[in-house]
Amino acid sequence: MYDLVIKNGTLVNADSTVFADIAVSGEQIAAIGKDLPGRREIDAEGKLVIPGGVDTHVHLSLDLGGPIVSSDDFFSGTRAAAFGGTTTVVPFIHPGAGKSVKEAFNERRNEAEGHVTVDYGWHMNIGPDAFSGPGKLRTLVEETLALGIVTFKLYMAYGYRLDDVQLFQALEAVGKAGGLSVIHAENWDLISLLVNRAVAAGETHPRFHERCRPAIFEAEAAAKVIAMAEYLACPVEIFHIGNRAVAEVIAAARRRGTAAFGETCPQYLFLTTDAFEREGVEGAYPVCSPPIRSEEERQAMWSAIAADDLQIVATDHCPFTRELKEEGLAKGFQSIPGGVPSMEMRMASIYSHGVASGLLSPQRWVSLCCATPARLHGFDRKGVLAPGFDADIVIFDPLKEHTLSAETLHEKCGWTPYEGLELKGAVETTILRGNLVTDGGEYCGERGMGRYIHRSGIDGRLR
Ligand code: URP
Ligand code: ZN
Ligand code: ZN
Repeated sequence: MYDLVIKNGTLVNADSTVFADIAVSGEQIAAIGKDLPGRREIDAEGKLVIPGGVDTHVHLSLDLGGPIVSSDDFFSGTRAAAFGGTTTVVPFIHPGAGKSVKEAFNERRNEAEGHVTVDYGWHMNIGPDAFSGPGKLRTLVEETLALGIVTFKLYMAYGYRLDDVQLFQALEAVGKAGGLSVIHAENWDLISLLVNRAVAAGETHPRFHERCRPAIFEAEAAAKVIAMAEYLACPVEIFHIGNRAVAEVIAAARRRGTAAFGETCPQYLFLTTDAFEREGVEGAYPVCSPPIRSEEERQAMWSAIAADDLQIVATDHCPFTRELKEEGLAKGFQSIPGGVPSMEMRMASIYSHGVASGLLSPQRWVSLCCATPARLHGFDRKGVLAPGFDADIVIFDPLKEHTLSAETLHEKCGWTPYEGLELKGAVETTILRGNLVTDGGEYCGERGMGRYIHRSGIDGRLR
């Protein structure tokens, strides 16, 4: 007798679909088969049963200085994730100057532990401070790996940005240690030039956020970092891709045999620059970096995930309150804090406009949102429905129609740039290591039930 059996569902993995029961013992999947007996049974007839979503790019309590902190904390963010069918998230550690890796880790861990309602790992940021003394970079990478963190974010923008030599050395150190570098690829110097010119010309409108960040410069930055990764023979993932020029850079590198991967996010699949023309603060809501683009580019992102030119749909979830967006807007487009909420709508929206519309297979959906992010980021017991894997399971109703609204979403910011978006397909039940977190729109989890996942490496065979 198993602890829990989900009966009669359509089980979807990245590489197969079967009609079967799935049984859970303790925290793990114990069996997949017919007529499995359970102390507790859930009937999933007519439903899809998929691995819990894995969102390998979220910002929780991101501190941009002073009062500018992203609005979802570790409880509100992970609870929203669970409502949306995501059971593993990866936020960030940014060790400040003068802080050891262990101190930075403990600080962030204290923010998360006791509050998270899904499992989580961390990305470690390698900033310019890692180059301020001999051996510092190597120590940072070694100490990070010892803490079970195998993914490192390298920025080519903002104050954390690395110059070319630093970028090369960071990629090399991470690659040699068996980790994965994830990259924010933009050309900061040229963006700064164009922003300064626009500001000097008196431009303030949010539309200038996109106009000052030409897609072709983003592609140039991505090509540069991929050239370095190719030379060093180390894997690399470009984060938040929203235009065809960058997707083509990834696709071309992969054709050459480079272990290059690309992530896109719902904002690039559902929003266009038209959103900047919305009234007042609504036009500031969609400001994020890299920016959302034209309708043509939006459609190109759907083609890219269908063609495997891009391999992951994560979210870059990073909303700020209406007040913070308003304060930024009052100073001009360059001061609007960047980021949108997408964590809760990711799984259902990609199903609806990808699978239900006929563009993606259900397996491709699971590959993009669960299996590939888990495997590439070293979560070796996540993202797959098979005995021995964590019993992170989502029961998904493929026929339920609903409309996205801030009124019903659980993210804390109180707004969504997807207001009114109609979806076919909804998360019904989210299970984390055998425990129900949400069911039928009700939260039934416990604050703190999520667990830190210590990772030992990434799958070097991944292509
Ligand atoms: O505008 C965005 N995306 N903010 C989050 C930070 C980042 O660059 O990923
Ligand atoms: Zn970024
Ligand atoms: Zn981000």
